[in-house]
Amino acid sequence: MLPPMPGLIERYRDHLPFEPGDPVVSLGEGSTPLVYAPRLSDRVGADVWLKIEGTNPTGSFKDRGMTCAVSAAVREGAEAVVCASTGNTAASAAAYAARAGLRGAVIVPEGKIATGKLAQALMHGARVIALRGNFDEALKLVRALAARHPVSLVNSVNEFRIQGQKTAAFELVEQLGGELDALCIPVGNAGNITAYWRGFNEAGHRPQMLGFQAAGAAPLVLGAPVANPETVASAIRIGNPARWEEAMDAMTSSGGAVNAVSDAQILDAYRFLAATEGVFCEPASAAGVAGLLTPWTLVTVAASVAAFYASAKGLQDGDAVPVIAITGTAANVAGIVGGIIVFGDPLSTTPVGLVVQFFAFGLVLIAAWLTPAPVRAVGAAV
Ligand SMILES: Cc1ncc(COP(=O)(O)O)c(C=O)c1O
Repeated sequence: MLPPMPGLIERYRDHLPFEPGDPVVSLGEGSTPLVYAPRLSDRVGADVWLKIEGTNPTGSFKDRGMTCAVSAAVREGAEAVVCASTGNTAASAAAYAARAGLRGAVIVPEGKIATGKLAQALMHGARVIALRGNFDEALKLVRALAARHPVSLVNSVNEFRIQGQKTAAFELVEQLGGELDALCIPVGNAGNITAYWRGFNEAGHRPQMLGFQAAGAAPLVLGAPVANPETVASAIRIGNPARWEEAMDAMTSSGGAVNAVSDAQILDAYRFLAATEGVFCEPASAAGVAGLLTPWTLVTVAASVAAFYASAKGLQDGDAVPVIAITGTAANVAGIVGGIIVFGDPLSTTPVGLVVQFFAFGLVLIAAWLTPAPVRAVGAAV
C-alpha cells in the first residue's frame, strides 16, 4: 500500500510554528503539480510553468493557509472560526472548521461570490451571512467581531495563513531546482504575494515578484484605496488590501512591479489557458497570465524563466464561462462533429472561424433535414 501523502504541516514542520504533538487539522493540502505551459512559453519567449493550486482539497491555495490557521485555532482553544471572503476563503475555512469540529461563520459580499464556492461553505455547515457591502466592509466587520469574542479570525491578516501559504514558494523552488526568475501572481487582499515572498526569502531564492490587479480593483497600482471595486474576477474584487505594505515591499525589493490588467485581458487569458494548455482556472487566477502577456511584462521577463500559478478551479466559478452546448439527435450531432473535424471550430468568432461556421452550419442543416428533430442551441454556465 502507498503511504498517504503528508499534509503540509507534517511536510514542512521545521519551517512552521508547530511542535510535534500539536493538533494538526489537515485534508492533505499542498504538493500541487507544476505543469510546463508550451503554448504560453511560445507566446512569451520564455519557459513558463503553471503552479496548479486548484488541486488543493477545496480547490484553492487558501487550504495551505487554512491548515495552519485552523490547527492553531484548535491549539488556542477557539470555539469557532470566522472570516470575510470573496469565496475561496469561505469554502476553505468551512471545510477545515468542519474537519476540526469547530463552528464556522463566513461573511460574504451579497450577490458577489460564485455559486459553487457558496455551495461549498454551506455544505460544510458554515453559517453564511451575506453583507450588503463589499469585501473590505466585511473584513472590517469580522475584525471587530474577533476582537470581542472567542473566535479565531482566519483571513490572511492571521499570521498562520501566511506561514502556511509560504510553502507554495518552497515547492516552486524544489520543483524548478531554483531555476525561477519571475513569478506572475494575481493580487487581491495581498496575503498570497506576501506569503510567497516570505517563502522565497526563507528558501534563499528571490525571483522578481510581478503582481497583477484587475483594472477596476487596483488600489496598489493607483496608490489609493478603491471605494467600489469592480471586476469579473470576483476573487480579487478588493479595494483596500490588508497586506498593502508587505505586498509593495515584496515587489520593490525583488525588482518586480505591480500592474493592472483589464477584464478583457483577464478573460482572454482565462480562455487561452483552458483552450490551449488544458488548465481551467477561475478568472482571478488568469489575471497572472493576463499580466504575463502584457507588452510591459514580455519585455521585462523576456529570455528568462517565468512561473505563474493557477489558484482555483474554474469549476467553482463558472459565471464567466461564455456558453455552450448544442443539442440534437444522433444525426444532428454527427453533422456538427463532422463539421468540427473537417472545418475546425464552428463556434469560433474569428473571420476564419466565421467562414468555417458557415460551412459547418450547412452540414448541420443537411443533418437536420435528414432527421425530423430540430436542432436547438442552449446556453449553460458550467
Ligand atoms: C483564486 C484567487 N486568486 C487570487 C487571490 C488573491 O489572493 P490575495 O487576496 O491573498 O491577494 C484570491 C483571493 O481570494 C483568490 O481566491
